[in-house]
Amino acid sequence: MAADALFRPFTHKSLKLKNRIVMAPMTRSFSPGGVPTPEVAAYYRRRAEAEVGLILSEGTVVARPSAKNDPNVPDFHGEQALAGWKRVIDEVHAAGGVMAPQLWHVGSARNPMTTWVAPPPVDSPSGFSSPGKKFTEPMTEEAIADTIAAFGRAAADARRLGFDAVELHGAHGYLIDQFFWEGTNQRTDAFGGATLAERSRFAAEVVKSVRAAVGPEMVVILRLSQWKQQDFKVRLAETPKEMEAWLTPLVEAGTDILHCSQRRFWEPEFEGSDLNFAGWAKKLTGKPTITVGSVGLSGEFIASFGGESSKPASLDNLLHRLERDEFDLVAVGRALLADAQWARKVREGRNHELYDFKKEALASLA
Ligand SMILES: Cc1cc2nc3c(=O)[nH]c(=O)nc-3n(C[C@H](O)[C@H](O)[C@H](O)COP(=O)(O)O)c2cc1C
Repeated sequence: MAADALFRPFTHKSLKLKNRIVMAPMTRSFSPGGVPTPEVAAYYRRRAEAEVGLILSEGTVVARPSAKNDPNVPDFHGEQALAGWKRVIDEVHAAGGVMAPQLWHVGSARNPMTTWVAPPPVDSPSGFSSPGKKFTEPMTEEAIADTIAAFGRAAADARRLGFDAVELHGAHGYLIDQFFWEGTNQRTDAFGGATLAERSRFAAEVVKSVRAAVGPEMVVILRLSQWKQQDFKVRLAETPKEMEAWLTPLVEAGTDILHCSQRRFWEPEFEGSDLNFAGWAKKLTGKPTITVGSVGLSGEFIASFGGESSKPASLDNLLHRLERDEFDLVAVGRALLADAQWARKVREGRNHELYDFKKEALASLA
């Protein structure tokens, strides 16, 4: 099946993309002391040169002491780190690319790959690392206000440096998602509550802060997931109605594009329809959406951390869904990590030249 649907242009507000392919945000931990190196810039530039429509950076953290859980994750604050990011966006633009940083705060999610511990305080809604595991104090109101402001400052810096959009990491059990999830948010103030709509308040305030910082035209993308790294089976919204109650305040706060993270994009979100998460989010909010999860690969990404290889897989199911506009954009993770040329090869029909994804690809910035 020809991949034409992937190569239609896409425009939303000031964001103009030559195709529908988005590089998924992928932590690489190649920024010593939080400063992106020239090698990091070259890694993104290679994807821009090879026709990726929109590059989302790896998660890059806002200015809170414990926003990251690995010293080699890049910061998005401080003179040196921002100078590193300026080099990244300038090189991506010189290659004709378009890019957004993914602004991140890990909250209480620790990193099993390192023994490094961030300076206190740990920021989390109720001091839980996962449901039932309380290990520290809840965030104070001051800490919450400072964190919301830190996202706004980072977004203002993204705009000043020349990035084309910003993405907020509200998925996978990190800080913003810890507020959504009742298992980790047991607050009784305005940032907690029995309903998902109430627990969306923190995310909505972050989006408002970012919107105020970037102005009306710059696109704000919000990444969300039902699943958590602490529990792959958990779901925030069990019905379309609950999903609508979750997403509506986030859109009203100023989100332009919803990035709907699944581990396998073809899995239906609710019984009785084959629409996936991005399909439902688009239907319920009317906003453009990004799908993601095992695009072009046989196996999903969590298993790949454990060493499982994935082989190139057919794009037909994805293309059918894209043709019927179930969603607007398609994020590709490991396939683009392993092969900077992935988008170009797909456009030219060179599918036999696509690579397997092997764990070894994580070891370098190829
Ligand atoms: C090495 C690696 C690092 C990742 N880091 C992030 C991250 O920083 N932020 C994020 O939202 N998702 C992250 N993810 C998830 C990816 O963005 C994507 O959702 C996932 O890999 C599924 O897409 P794929 O099957 O095409 O790889 C990461 C995935 C991988 C493989």
